[in-house]
Amino acid sequence: MSTSSESGIVASKPIKKTPNDFVFGKVIGEGSYSTVYLAKEIGPGTEYAIKVLEKKHIMRERKTQYVMREKEVLMNINHPFFVRLYYTFQDADRLYFVLGYARRGELLDYLHKLSSFDEDCSRFYCAEIVKALEYLHGAGIVHRDLKPENILLNDEMHIQITDFGSAKIFKEGDTSEENSSNQRKNSFVGTAQYVSPEVLTSKSASKSSDLWALGCILYQFLSGEPPFRGGHEYQIFQKITKLEYEFPEGFNSLARDLVQKLLVLDPDKRLGSDEMGGFDALKSHDFFTGIDWDHLEETKPPELV
Ligand code: ADE
Repeated sequence: MSTSSESGIVASKPIKKTPNDFVFGKVIGEGSYSTVYLAKEIGPGTEYAIKVLEKKHIMRERKTQYVMREKEVLMNINHPFFVRLYYTFQDADRLYFVLGYARRGELLDYLHKLSSFDEDCSRFYCAEIVKALEYLHGAGIVHRDLKPENILLNDEMHIQITDFGSAKIFKEGDTSEENSSNQRKNSFVGTAQYVSPEVLTSKSASKSSDLWALGCILYQFLSGEPPFRGGHEYQIFQKITKLEYEFPEGFNSLARDLVQKLLVLDPDKRLGSDEMGGFDALKSHDFFTGIDWDHLEETKPPELV
């Protein structure tokens, strides 16, 4: 459709894609409410990861607001360390999110293959996550389900964070009862191993909850396992609320100091929180010595060994 303006310049509205514009290939991801397919756009041949959601299932499980939130968040993100949303469309039964294809898959698979990452790799990938969170929080978004499964890798082995189905948009300066300290009460709990104590005790997540997850992830990079483990979720939750974890022998001492400054029960006392100097203070931690913060995206990642 074309619309002519007074200037005579004709602006054409982008035409909505349809499922027929793509050839759907293998399944590359599966969640509770979606299936992700590798797909190729007919014509250009560009590869995408298309997330397909069954409308009936979403409605039955009352997840409509989460799906709408995920789309809104993805539409607002424009940064190399996040999976990009290219198109959305629907048919009678399904919703489609056409996402950038992170060709190298999950960081977790590399972690499992290697058991753990060496210091250089841990530092580099931790720094990329810090950079990504700095952008995300600056855009007024909390991820709330940050974990190695949601950190994908592109062809150049840089991170591509995905899965905004649990994300929240917060309004800076909103001091209303519902949004006090930029927190909101809600029934959502992320993945057990990475969930922050405040989400368990007061059901409120904030930017700082992502910093807790970052602490868990750095610990896992270096040791191979997340810090809070247990046979059942409630055992994990108990350990989290009591800050019950230990460092294995030989754990890098600067990384240990950083983890200890992130895994703090009081969300306002975590390194990287506004109260503790924000991201500048976090990026200045000695563990990150040597990181070129302004050129991470162009830096060749250390080989995962
Ligand atoms: N699995 C889920 N989403 C993906 C993506 N965007 N790229 C590659 N694998 C995925």
